[in-house]
Amino acid sequence: MATKTKSVWYCTACGNESSKWMGQCPACKEWNTMVEAPSEPRYVKASGIGAAVSGAERKPRHLKEIDSATEARRPLGMEEFNRILGGGIVPGSLVLIAGEPGIGKSTLSLQIPLLCPGLRTLYVTGEESARQVKMRADRLGGDDAGCFIFPETHMESVIAQAQQMLPDLMIVDSVQTMYTQTVDSAAGSVSQIKEVAALLLRFAKESGVPVILIGHITKDGYIAGPKILEHIVDVVLQFEGENKGQYRILRSIKNRFGSTSELSVFEMTGSGLREVSNPSELLVPMHGEGLSGTAICALLDGARPLLLEVQALVSSAVYGTAQRTATGFDVRRLNMLLAVLEKRAGFHLSAKDVFLNMAGGMKVTDPACDLAVVVSVLSSNFDYPIPSDICFAGEVGLSGEIRPVPQVERRISEAGRLGFKQIYISSFSGEQAVGTGDIRVIKVEDVPALVRKLFAKR
Ligand code: TYD
Ligand code: MG
Repeated sequence: MATKTKSVWYCTACGNESSKWMGQCPACKEWNTMVEAPSEPRYVKASGIGAAVSGAERKPRHLKEIDSATEARRPLGMEEFNRILGGGIVPGSLVLIAGEPGIGKSTLSLQIPLLCPGLRTLYVTGEESARQVKMRADRLGGDDAGCFIFPETHMESVIAQAQQMLPDLMIVDSVQTMYTQTVDSAAGSVSQIKEVAALLLRFAKESGVPVILIGHITKDGYIAGPKILEHIVDVVLQFEGENKGQYRILRSIKNRFGSTSELSVFEMTGSGLREVSNPSELLVPMHGEGLSGTAICALLDGARPLLLEVQALVSSAVYGTAQRTATGFDVRRLNMLLAVLEKRAGFHLSAKDVFLNMAGGMKVTDPACDLAVVVSVLSSNFDYPIPSDICFAGEVGLSGEIRPVPQVERRISEAGRLGFKQIYISSFSGEQAVGTGDIRVIKVEDVPALVRKLFAKR
């Protein structure tokens, strides 16, 4: 029977597959994200993801027969990177580092071999010439004895080279520039990206060589690529941060060998990325007492407690409509908090411009930040500085109530460890929310109570 080449459509936002074009993706509900890719069942069978497991293992074995030894991990030269992987890289694993262009993915992936003497690394670059990589390596410093640079975009050559060399680690920068001859479409298309990743996965599983794969995403997390790859790879690390800010956050969003609630902070310096092992110390104020409009929030980002400075500036609106701007915080949430202050606590902020900023270019989604946002806004509005040894952790509800936040004890102990003297939390927090050591826990039930306690001396 004659076979007809059929097409499939993929959603570039979530990777959902469909047999026909649709305006809206039924899985993620995004519009205009479906793209066409020829499906080649013959090929998928030959070397698709299913083929990643070698023939010998294609037989069911009793659970008891399988040896339970924990995966041997190889620690790399960067402490924070090891921690986020769960203690080192697992042999035969495929790790995706995804991030916007210019965030520092190439820098990070080149620093890994440079900081790990004795690690034989094959660094495949499809974006930069060998010379450009060399220039970057010189800038980064470190030991380049075990580092081999291979400028190549043809996947079959890359795999052949890797099979011959069998390095300790392979890095591929980036998935969008690689292509395989078995798929017709251009490099960077959905089907190319899927196939390139499947080839790398197969190589990693068969040879035991860990592979770090770099993938670009755009500002809104779009473009075919990393979203589709998430299903294929073992580990997804997302590199994020404000492009202009000096701090970068590496977040684990999928990890088949460890926890996904890990996060690491890096600082971009003139000579590469520097690991920040205690982020709180950097993100809290860099000025003395007496500045109004700032409040410290005890956040939880992933599993890690983090103290962060929230800055607000409230001024009379110059034009008719007041402006509300938030950097690193959801502006709708800011508007909601301002409405709560207006309605429940009687502060007239509707004719005021409000600017809000999270220190260090951090993006905050933890609702525990609400309380610090409210306090910083009021502090700026009254021009009343908050003592720098006080911090906050609470969610603010629509009726002005202060709601408890998860893992409050960890936030309290991190604040105590960093020398804070008081922490304001919800009075609905459990019994276990008590201060340890020098830190005193102050429980407040709603915004008016908070104002009475904090701004009483005003
Ligand atoms: P890069 O790793 O090329 O980003 P990506 O691979 O994610 O696109 O790095 C991007 C930025 O980092 C670039 O704008 C320059 C800056 N940078 C430094 O500030 N210091 C350094 O030592 C290096 C190598 C880069
Ligand atoms: Mg790059």
